[in-house]
Amino acid sequence: MDKIVIEGGVPLKGEVAISGAKNAALPILAATLLAPGIHHLYNVPPLADIRTFKKVLGLMGVSFEEGKPLIVDTSRLTGWMAPYEVVKTMRAAVLVLGPLVARARQASVSLPGGCAIGARPIDLHLKGLAAMGVKIRLNQGYVEARVKRLKGAEITLDTPTVTGTENLMMAAVLAQGVTRIHNAAQEPEVADLARFLVAMGAKIEGIGTDVLTITGVNALTPAPYTIMPDRIEAGTYLAAAAITRGEVTITNAPVAAMSAVLEKFQEAGVRLKTDDDRIVVEQGGSLVGVDVKTRPYPGFPTDMQAQFMALMTLARGASLITETIFENRFMHVSELKRLGADITISANQAMVRGKKQLLGAPVMATDLRASASLVVAGLAAQGTTEVHRVYHLDRGYAHLTEKLTALGARIRRVPA
Ligand code: EPU
Repeated sequence: MDKIVIEGGVPLKGEVAISGAKNAALPILAATLLAPGIHHLYNVPPLADIRTFKKVLGLMGVSFEEGKPLIVDTSRLTGWMAPYEVVKTMRAAVLVLGPLVARARQASVSLPGGCAIGARPIDLHLKGLAAMGVKIRLNQGYVEARVKRLKGAEITLDTPTVTGTENLMMAAVLAQGVTRIHNAAQEPEVADLARFLVAMGAKIEGIGTDVLTITGVNALTPAPYTIMPDRIEAGTYLAAAAITRGEVTITNAPVAAMSAVLEKFQEAGVRLKTDDDRIVVEQGGSLVGVDVKTRPYPGFPTDMQAQFMALMTLARGASLITETIFENRFMHVSELKRLGADITISANQAMVRGKKQLLGAPVMATDLRASASLVVAGLAAQGTTEVHRVYHLDRGYAHLTEKLTALGARIRRVPA
């Protein structure tokens, strides 16, 4: 298994282009199941999670032609099962549930277990599908779903689940009648999926709001689509630029979807300018500790919490970081402490007291964003930081070492 070795302390300089959004590409790939035929998808990021998801779709008879665009052939559906072996490594595989019940009227999807960041149940996905007439039973760890004809329903989500909203929306587009999803997730990736569905002929109102009204249609047809850029990748480079006091231009960034993040960085003293799709991080200004609380969109994203915490370890003063989305998303804390950070956890809050410097050390983390925060911290730490378990980073960051090297970082990937 590879590791990433970083010699920290180099201010990043230059330009970095953001890739397509993992969390938009995954549901959009799932949604291709809804329209038999040949799909052309642009800006699909080269990530391990995407490769895994293609394997899942492959098991259902979907074939791919690699390239730009990625060509996805969903003409023939030969299976409707997402096996345990895949779902246990990537929860997002549950995104096939909605499209499969809509197209094949049945699905068999392994119930995801807990994961490193929390229990992450899918009860709301199942409750919503049941309201649309789907019969659901649990058999040997699999959710078995069957339906004669999907029917529109009024669904109110207890909590605005992202993949839950996506699953229900994908089922509803081919249901009979109108489905209204209240308290829907408003994340930009949910909106990106909705726009793809509309491009294929779906009728969806309220895109980007917390009430989605979906009028079922008889069939969808493939339409070319360009996946939005990754706001979390952009935010991670922003953190990397800021923590090294660098001067970095982040291009192809989904600036409009990043307001909460950009405002927090500015509040923390990071000097930046934006236009439609660019963020220019300027040198100067001293970092100050600010409090942050993760929230569903448009609030501060949980997927940026760890990277922002890395930045706060070198800010003047204290920062209180509250995680409200996942119950166990502080695994990076003990690793950041190995680099010399001063952080105390109490329940879902982390108190970070800024230090003058971090010192390199071997570290590892058990999820994607925690690993990203260790890279961010390592870029600023004096001496050598080794980040182990690189496969987490491969899941969500396209060409990470290459992009950081191009910005002048002393970073390399070596077999561990
Ligand atoms: N929840 C329930 N019941 C459900 C579904 C969710 O109680 O049926 C709870 C969860 O336990 C959690 C909260 O609702 O406390 C929100 O979870 P959500 O369902 O929104 O998360 P998700 O859809 O499983 C997506 C992203 C995550 C991201 C979260 C929150 C994808 C593929 N994954 O997960 O991304 O953290 O939304 O924004 O879109 C990542 O990219 O690193 C990542 C973990």
